[in-house]
Amino acid sequence: MPSVPDPEARAENPGSRAANPEARAENPGSRAANPEARAENPGSRAANPEARAENPGSPAANPEPRAERPGPRAPKTGSTQPAEGAGPRAGKAEPVVLRAENLHKTYGSGIFGRGGGVHAVDGVSLELRAGETLGIVGESGCGKSTLARMLVGLERPDSGEVTFHGRPFARGRRAPAPAVRRRVQMVFQDPMTSLNPRMTVLDIVAEPLDVHRLAAGRAQRRDRVGELLDLVGLAPELMHRFPHEFSGGQRQRIGIARALATDPEVIVCDEPVSALDMSVQAQVVNLLAGLQRRLGVALVFIAHDLAVVRHVSHRVGVMYLGRLAELGPAAEVYGSPAHPYTKALLSAAPVPRPQARDRTRIILAGDPPSPVDPPSGCRFRTRCWKAADVCAGHAPPLEGAAAHLAACYFPEAGR
Ligand SMILES: Nc1ncnc2c1ncn2[C@@H]1O[C@H](COP(=O)(O)OP(=O)(O)O)[C@@H](O)[C@H]1O
Ligand SMILES: [Mg+2]
Repeated sequence: MPSVPDPEARAENPGSRAANPEARAENPGSRAANPEARAENPGSRAANPEARAENPGSPAANPEPRAERPGPRAPKTGSTQPAEGAGPRAGKAEPVVLRAENLHKTYGSGIFGRGGGVHAVDGVSLELRAGETLGIVGESGCGKSTLARMLVGLERPDSGEVTFHGRPFARGRRAPAPAVRRRVQMVFQDPMTSLNPRMTVLDIVAEPLDVHRLAAGRAQRRDRVGELLDLVGLAPELMHRFPHEFSGGQRQRIGIARALATDPEVIVCDEPVSALDMSVQAQVVNLLAGLQRRLGVALVFIAHDLAVVRHVSHRVGVMYLGRLAELGPAAEVYGSPAHPYTKALLSAAPVPRPQARDRTRIILAGDPPSPVDPPSGCRFRTRCWKAADVCAGHAPPLEGAAAHLAACYFPEAGR
């Protein structure tokens, strides 16, 4: 299992969690989702979520997932070790499960798209292969959640298309067909607000089973929930408890169990650890990596900092202001970043042995420009030390010699 040896990496971004505007706005649209969750329990233990966080002495806590057994679906190939780069699953041999083609989403652009608006996602194309983990990183507000919602069909792109096994995920305004919907699930950022406080864990995790009629009776429903809790490292006996009785990390495990209930092929995890205490983040990241390997599920793992997805991603995409700046095998993106933006992000991250690296820290000037009025051409050009006249013209296409792509007219050499 890959580990996350560098939990301190996030100390570099003390304000980033608070800066995330959609942190509590996620509502998967299910009955189990309740944005008011926090307000419902002002006086409860939930008011101090980390007080009980991952206490090894508590019966509910089990930092190491117990379920080192085959899951409901065996991996399609041998196990992978994605740490430090692309594992076998990143190879071209695996079929493409989910593909996004030129997705655009603008909010508040008025009728017929006139009148500006927030260009949240602006021409993103990517593919996800069976059993791989694709990390997506980028600063808060760059469009990660909007992309995530389009990938799972919770939001319709203004233009462009998401296909699942080559077929349109949804047609027109219609929601995806249930048979397709259940194969692509999502884990939300804040486990506090994404679990209904009035429902037991049993009902929360069983909800997708009920919706998709996947359990034949009460006993089967209960057994399956017990199995799913076991899979995420929670004792099945805890299924009769309520969300507020769990720590933040445990609640995210419940959210993951719910996402696994329908035996999905793809799980899109939108900043699944950003709301968690730093000490718990690595445990949840490792749980997801372990599940990915055991079940062969393909993961899109979104984070706002590169360090979080480094050791669990086969490939990594770096987003800037609604576009992909770089996309490639993790070892190449981290080892020899091609886009100046990626280089700047990496230069700001802590290194285990600073004296061993010849590294200049790149300080980016200012904040990202507003997505309401993004710069012409390359969106990074206003903060880029390499920018030239050409960068203000046509946006540079995302291209490269092999699988390592960058949207830059002056990419770093050595790719
Ligand atoms: N429902 C919405 N209505 C209006 N603007 C939105 C909505 N969702 C996101 N945005 C805006 O779109 C941009 C991208 O947001 P988001 O996808 O949440 O980014 P990220 O997840 O990377 O922080 C931001 O400027 C955000 O304010
Ligand atoms: Mg987000």
